[in-house]
Amino acid sequence: MKRITVIGTGYVGLVTGAGLSDFGNQVICTDINEDKINKLLSGEIPIYEPGLKELIDRNVSAGRLTFSTDIPPALKKSEVVIIAVWTPMGKNGGADLSAVKSVAKMIGENLNGYKVICTKSTVPIGTGKIIREIIEKISGDSQEFDVVSNPEFLREGSAVKDFLIPNRIVIGSESERAQKVMKQVYRPLFINETPIVTTDVLSAETIKYASNAFLAVKISYINELANLCDATGADVHLVARGMGLDGRISSKFLHPGPGFGGSCFPKDTSALVHMAKKENVEMKIVNAAITSNSIQWMQITNKLDTLFKDSFEGKTISILGLTFKANTDDVRQSPATPVIEYILKQKGNVRAYDPEGMANMKKLLPGINYCESLQKAVEGADGLMIMTEWHEFRAMDLKKIADLMSGNIIVDARNILDPKELKKNGFIFENVGRPNVK
Ligand code: UDX
Repeated sequence: MKRITVIGTGYVGLVTGAGLSDFGNQVICTDINEDKINKLLSGEIPIYEPGLKELIDRNVSAGRLTFSTDIPPALKKSEVVIIAVWTPMGKNGGADLSAVKSVAKMIGENLNGYKVICTKSTVPIGTGKIIREIIEKISGDSQEFDVVSNPEFLREGSAVKDFLIPNRIVIGSESERAQKVMKQVYRPLFINETPIVTTDVLSAETIKYASNAFLAVKISYINELANLCDATGADVHLVARGMGLDGRISSKFLHPGPGFGGSCFPKDTSALVHMAKKENVEMKIVNAAITSNSIQWMQITNKLDTLFKDSFEGKTISILGLTFKANTDDVRQSPATPVIEYILKQKGNVRAYDPEGMANMKKLLPGINYCESLQKAVEGADGLMIMTEWHEFRAMDLKKIADLMSGNIIVDARNILDPKELKKNGFIFENVGRPNVK
């Protein structure tokens, strides 16, 4: 059991802190945002993440997990400090490290005995060295700490499961002592033989970007194949199935759609290209995936143009799904945003419904009509667009939907509706890469 302070209690830091306390560690999750910490202290969870409330409640009541805005005393009490602050995309496309640097400075000021400083945030390759230099400069004593890279591979919407039952743990450090401490931190996983990949810091930092960028490339690849299927008449689902049975390809992340969004893939692919460029290395394939993804949402609006015969001025289009994926409240870089902006520009009327994402989308697009239920969003609509694969939309009673709508046009950007059911209920529809499945 180790005493741990997590700095940064966002999507990654909160799940990490709660998960590590579940592993038997004593954890303080800290943040500069008082409102967030006060919510957590009163038992409220500031983000939507399935299973997170139970995980937090269990460990708070067991006395292993607490929250604070007062970071220095927490640092002083801890053997392990986990940096989980955000690293947003900077103006030049690289990652903005200002939060990481100020946290490293604060750690240096509060070093009072050997500590393992562990970066959980996705940080550019070489950040471990920067953190070390900042702490050494302030504390002056390089024996009293080691820096570790321990990247997270948490998917929003399944972050708790991904943390408690990971495919692998990556621990990057040149220090034997630090490696030993980290194995204690993850002791239950170590015991149940979860693969632990021990590397140097640079390689661990690279594994994170390499993994995320590869997944983004895979998504852009299947989206471009879907666009080809739309042109040739093939069925991209059958293509994906035929591909995915090859163990070298795997069937995961071969679901075509409106393009990848979220707070990670767009930021991490851009950061990887940017940092490679600084080393005079051109990441042509990742660059191509970014470019391809940046226009994929237009493939979806082109379908709307086709179905409305190039004009939907004055028509009511309901957007079902605002979040960048299902089972999250996160709308960052969601493809729903450019699609809505396009419809508004073409003078269409937009209604929107999402089970979890409306509060966040209202901050980005305040001027549209948010409906409190699926039924309200569908009533009288001329057309629907399924932009996120929520189960609520998969399970829609299409006969009831047809009765509620005044039009009969549907664009299913996530291929979650059954084309046969759509045809049976009189819909005229488009999906992604399945032009002849009727
Ligand atoms: C991702 C990585 O999966 C995770 O390992 C990393 O730690 C953080 O970034 P996340 O962005 O939360 O996780 O969600 P993910 O499930 O990876 O989806 C990212 C985007 O890709 C979403 O917009 C999703 O809709 C899209 N996607 C995913 C597809 O379009 N097709 C797929 O087959 C899979």
